[in-house]
Amino acid sequence: MTARGRLVTIEGIDGAGKTTLAGGLAAALRERGIDVLALREPGGVALAEQIRALVMDPAHAVAPRTEALLYAAARAELVAEQLEPAIAAGRFVLLDRFVDSSLAYQGAGRELGVQEIARLNEFATGGLRPDRTLLLVIDPAVGRARRGEQADRIELEADAFFARIDAAYRSLAVADPERVRVLNATLAPRELLAAAVVELADLLAR
Ligand SMILES: Nc1ncnc2c1ncn2[C@@H]1O[C@H](COP(=O)(O)OP(=O)(O)O)[C@@H](O)[C@H]1O
Ligand SMILES: [Mg+2]
Repeated sequence: MTARGRLVTIEGIDGAGKTTLAGGLAAALRERGIDVLALREPGGVALAEQIRALVMDPAHAVAPRTEALLYAAARAELVAEQLEPAIAAGRFVLLDRFVDSSLAYQGAGRELGVQEIARLNEFATGGLRPDRTLLLVIDPAVGRARRGEQADRIELEADAFFARIDAAYRSLAVADPERVRVLNATLAPRELLAAAVVELADLLAR
């Protein structure tokens, strides 16, 4: 029987460097001969990519509950089509955002309540949990300065919104330090990558 794979997620506010780290980490793990499946949220499957386009479009009005449900729906499809089969096949899944993003953005940022959003996502994912989460922590103002000119619908939000998200992310790390490992996102990309590999060492050694 194939050993169960791994699910590692990367989290943090917009501009923290998640996508950059995900790319570097996927390459580093592949160099070690690990069969990596790298995906991003929302997205990763056709239906979820369409939901992504909808939810990020500044032209749409999206009520907070609608937003939470759209992200959860995209996630449910990703779990069914990609994550469950890949983990069952023994692959190492590297995912740019997952449930913690909704806890932080919709639960705290939109003030829908972290517990409410946790329940919604328990349903959406069937209870699938990451083996490890790398949380990139950065001052929200620095994150904002790093982002591109063209802000999507979420990125247009005010500083207070990102301050609530940052606080919620840090609370998640305090609540579950075994799973959620905090990384200093102001490190240079190469150093950040090395720090990330250290936090995954026990998952790589088998
Ligand atoms: N460790 C880092 N140090 C400095 N700048 C970074 C670092 N990681 C990423 N960046 C830059 O910051 C911007 C946002 O990075 P990105 O990986 O897209 O963040 P996220 O996916 O978290 O929004 C990009 O311009 C990227 O080149
Ligand atoms: Mg990104």
